[in-house]
Amino acid sequence: MGKRLVIAIDGPAASGKSTTAKSIAKLLGYTYIDTGAMYRSAALAAFRAKISFDDIDKLKDMLEHISISFQISADMQIVLLNGKDVSKRIRDADITKLSSEIATIPIVRHKMVKLQQQMGDEGGVVMDGRDIGTVVFPNADIKFFLTASTRVRALRRWKELPEGAVTVEQVEKDLVWRDKNDSSRSVGPLLKADDAIHVDTSGLSVQQQINQIYSQVKTKINSEDMT
Ligand code: DC
Repeated sequence: MGKRLVIAIDGPAASGKSTTAKSIAKLLGYTYIDTGAMYRSAALAAFRAKISFDDIDKLKDMLEHISISFQISADMQIVLLNGKDVSKRIRDADITKLSSEIATIPIVRHKMVKLQQQMGDEGGVVMDGRDIGTVVFPNADIKFFLTASTRVRALRRWKELPEGAVTVEQVEKDLVWRDKNDSSRSVGPLLKADDAIHVDTSGLSVQQQINQIYSQVKTKINSEDMT
């Protein structure tokens, strides 16, 4: 068996990262690591413990005791916070907003980045997020940066929500806020690595998007096997 790569997929919310990363991991028999779920879990833990994001000492203490892990159950990935399944709760709008806020705090990023580096240090991982190709694995074997127009991304998210829950305009407004917050922080902002392959998924079907990325990954794997 050839080298098992580290594959980094970054991009803004709803750009197609997780759908693509999950499929590529499955096709290759790699582990998928959803780093957004880790920030979401940290936000949920702070929310439940009623810790203000200004209280760095309390956050530090929380981070020292927190356990975030992934498990596969019935072909679905579930996220465990201190051993309990939080997969659903971390997707709610309040925690989504808080995850972007907590992700601006340097000690939180420091802890998450360290965990992510440990999870991927043996290779055979597809990791998606905002700073994977720039900070977590700057030497990743192959990097992608996915984008899509704001409208397309809002529509994608809106279609996943229960009918009548919110308007597409509200979803779009939340996305724009999050993009701005994720891009403007000083530590580990949402940024394309210089050597990342840019894929605009606006006009692509899910299958086209997966095919396009998978074929580039296969080319990389074949070239690694020849060396
Ligand atoms: O990918 P997501 O939408 O689940 O991420 C939720 C939030 O977590 C996102 O708004 C910013 C933050 N995040 C981050 O700062 N760095 C990452 N590598 C992944 C997510």
